Amino acid sequence: MEISTSILSVEMENATTVFYNLETAGTDYFHIDVMDGKFVERDTTELMYDYANTIKHISNIPLDVHLMVENPKEHIDKYLSLEPSIITFHYEACKSNEEIIEIINYIKQNGVKPAISIKPNTDISKIIDFLPLVYMILVMTVEPGKGGQKLIPEALEKAKEISKTIESKKLDTYIEVDGGVNKETIETVKKANVDIAVAGNAIILAENFKEAIKELK
Ligand code: DX5
Ligand code: ZN
Repeated sequence: MEISTSILSVEMENATTVFYNLETAGTDYFHIDVMDGKFVERDTTELMYDYANTIKHISNIPLDVHLMVENPKEHIDKYLSLEPSIITFHYEACKSNEEIIEIINYIKQNGVKPAISIKPNTDISKIIDFLPLVYMILVMTVEPGKGGQKLIPEALEKAKEISKTIESKKLDTYIEVDGGVNKETIETVKKANVDIAVAGNAIILAENFKEAIKELK
C-alpha cells in the first residue's frame, strides 16, 4: 500500500522545508486538497496551487490532485500545467454521466490518470460503470472539507465492496481512501484492499515524518 501525504494543514512559513522533509521521509505522493469554497466551505484554491507549484520545482514525487470543487474542468486546466500524476474529481460535482465521461476523457487526453471520488453517503452503484474507464476510485472516509476528522467505518466498507467488484470484473482499477487514516485505523484500511491511503494529520502533526510513514506502511 502506498501513502499519499495530504499537505492541507502544512503551514506557509516552513512549507518548503516540510515538502523537502516529506520527500526524504518516503511519501509516495503529495496529496493536494483543492477546495473552492462552494463544493465545500473552505477555499484552498490559491494555497494549494502555490504549494503544488513549489513541490513541482523541488521534487520528483508525483502529485495526487483531489478536486473538491463544483466546476472540475476549470481546475483541471490549471493543474495540467503542473503535470500531476493523478487528478481526482467528485461524482457529486457532475450533472450527468455524459459530463463524467467527458471529464475522464479530457484528463486522459492530457496524459494524466483520471480518478473519480465519492463522498461517504454516495452509493457505490453510482460509479460502478466508470470502473473500467478510470485509473482510480477515491473513497472518502470522512465528509470532505477538513483534515483531522474520524474515519467513518461504513464508508470504508464501500472500499471493500468496490475492491470485490474490481476483482470479479478482472479490472486493475486502483482504490484510494481519504480521511481519518492514522496508526489506529490503518489496519482496517489495509483489510479493505486499498492501494493508496491518504494521510494528513497522522503525518504532518507527527514529530518524525519518516517514522510516521513507516508506521503506516
Ligand atoms: C478532506 C481531505 C483529506 C484530509 C485528510 O476533505 O480530502 O485529504 O485532509 O486529512 P486527515 O488524514 O487528517 O483526515
Ligand atoms: Zn483529499
